[in-house]
Amino acid sequence: MPNRTPFVGGNWKMNTDARTASELASSLASGLAGTAGVDVAIFPPFVYLREIGSGIETSDIILGAQDVYDQPNGAFTGEISIDMLKDCGVRSVLTGHSERRHVIGESDTIVNKKTRAVLDAGLQCVLCIGETLDQRESGKTDAINEHQTRAGLEGVSKEQLANVVIAYEPVWAIGTGKTATPGDAQDAHANIRELIANMYDQEAADAIRIIYGGSMKPGNAEELMSMADIDGGLVGGASLNAEDFLSIIRAGAPQGV
Ligand code: 13P
Repeated sequence: MPNRTPFVGGNWKMNTDARTASELASSLASGLAGTAGVDVAIFPPFVYLREIGSGIETSDIILGAQDVYDQPNGAFTGEISIDMLKDCGVRSVLTGHSERRHVIGESDTIVNKKTRAVLDAGLQCVLCIGETLDQRESGKTDAINEHQTRAGLEGVSKEQLANVVIAYEPVWAIGTGKTATPGDAQDAHANIRELIANMYDQEAADAIRIIYGGSMKPGNAEELMSMADIDGGLVGGASLNAEDFLSIIRAGAPQGV
């Protein structure tokens, strides 16, 4: 049985302010005893990264960014480079989040450029994929996941894949309170893992973490993360409450920790 370290990420999206962001980060840092064996990351808004980075320095929490631009510098008004993120202590970056694909309008090509830039810089990349409700209802879940995975990982080597976490986030489950059933999520995850075996090899497929996102809460996290191919979660709303997020992290911890 492959031994994958669970990964639980908190995507704060465009929430918090300077005070609540710092309070949330320090509650997490002090509450994290007893969750050894889980990789924990938080993805605060850009403007709070530096301060939060120094606030969690003595903890094992991975500082992550919600987005990045693929170019190193230049006339790209409003964008943030990878070196700027590194300056803030960022070690992980989300790419392809459904809100960037469907609200901001990012194409597969942009998602791939960002993914490659993150990996070329030696950072971890959490590549998000997932189908819309229409796509699900017309039976296209696996085809969409395959398309977004192949497009997102185009040009990514097997060595670089070791720094990739795939987040399967069905768009219809994000922020809606509707969660994929553990069985449906497991099916999607198993198919994504098989796809990775076809694109790379079985060793890569066994090693890669595939996490679930979409209305994950303390009440459903344990069942979802107990499925064989669900290696953790990417949590939005529930990650804004320290107790809820800590309880999801505990639900992902290997037994006996
Ligand atoms: P919710 O947990 O609020 O549904 O958000 C999930 C998500 O988009 C995490 O990236």
